[in-house]
Amino acid sequence: MAAQLDASTGIASPDLRVLPIGVPTLSVVVPCYNERLNVVPLIQKLDTALAGIAWEVIFVDDNSPDGTAGEVRRAAATDPRVRCIRRIGRRGLASAVIEGALSSSARFIAVMDGDLQHDETRLPDMLAALRSGDFDLAVGSRHVEGGDNAGLSSRWRHTLSDGGIRLAQAFLPVRLSDPMSGFFMLGRETFEVLAPHLTGQGFKILLDLVMSAPAPLRVREIPCQFHPRLAGESKLDVLVLVQFAGLLLDKIFDGFLPLRFLSFCFVGLLGVLVHLAVLTLARLTADVDFATAQIAGTIVSMVFNFQLNNQITYRDQRLRGPRLWRGLLLFMVVCGIGAIANVGIARTMYESHANWWTLAGATGAIIGVVWNYAVSATLVWRAR
Ligand code: GDD
Ligand code: MN
Repeated sequence: MAAQLDASTGIASPDLRVLPIGVPTLSVVVPCYNERLNVVPLIQKLDTALAGIAWEVIFVDDNSPDGTAGEVRRAAATDPRVRCIRRIGRRGLASAVIEGALSSSARFIAVMDGDLQHDETRLPDMLAALRSGDFDLAVGSRHVEGGDNAGLSSRWRHTLSDGGIRLAQAFLPVRLSDPMSGFFMLGRETFEVLAPHLTGQGFKILLDLVMSAPAPLRVREIPCQFHPRLAGESKLDVLVLVQFAGLLLDKIFDGFLPLRFLSFCFVGLLGVLVHLAVLTLARLTADVDFATAQIAGTIVSMVFNFQLNNQITYRDQRLRGPRLWRGLLLFMVVCGIGAIANVGIARTMYESHANWWTLAGATGAIIGVVWNYAVSATLVWRAR
């Protein structure tokens, strides 16, 4: 495809160049999981809303069991503006968005849900805001005048959403009335610069982008309606808030400690509480000796930690079915060795410097947790 040359100078000019047919100005990145029934209606809506704009839509599907990717490919067979990225063995909204956006060569990138909850008729306004050159980022907001939140599925979701927004605003470098929005647009070059700094975990890609920018982004908020979901179901739950707290921590630590490790440590701390609770309960209610109670506490807290890590820390690689049981067994073996190493190292240190017992204890515990994390990451939740 030869770039068109400026008639008077013979030099290709990016401003005057007319794009050949098929080269999009705007890529709409749509993360989707089990959205088969929404694919064709979404394409039709984009077709109407984006008349006169050269656009493409990139569906990023995590191998949905409902056959979303197949549906996208069927549409793509007759419409070159439709593209499909099918990821296998991975889950996650933020990482799906990043991959979709990085596959684009268009000048602008929009991110939008695949369930028809976002108002696609706002896309031209977002594009106009960016094209004016006055803004780096356009965000569809439910909380500026003209926007509305009616589509959130329950009262609980409202509370969750409001709580998250307040928490986020306290840390944000820019004013964003709807920092949890999953509907926004930015220049591809801006995205390319920020991409290496993104956490890529959880739901909150917009927050991640805003917090990763070296200088505050100039943000234009566009009022939006949030439609109720018609087909399929929401994948957002309480765990999203937990992950979100993790994202904040990660940004505060500036990526120094991996998010997964923080989550693993947090789960471990809860596990200690569970352990102590079981120990106390066994000592108080049943007539068992200390060693038996201690073993019971260890087993219960290991199962508890495994479950929580499987739900939160490794949410995107969650083990299910027979793999779950195999994983649990391995986890217990790994953590058992970790505990032996912990006690062994602490005792050796204690024996040589008895008055440094806190240091000995802490070193043992830290080595134990790093061992547990490193080994379970490669053996138990091995990336497939
Ligand atoms: N590829 C991929 N992988 N897509 C996913 C995944 C995943 O693991 N999880 C969810 N999605 C897709 C969904 O199919 C949908 O298109 C979009 O991401 C949003 O997911 P929903 O499950 O519909 O989220 P929601 O409607 O509850 O949340 C909305 O509101 C939040 C703010 O409260 C979304 O707009 C979020 O982006 C937004 O943060
Ligand atoms: Mn939704």
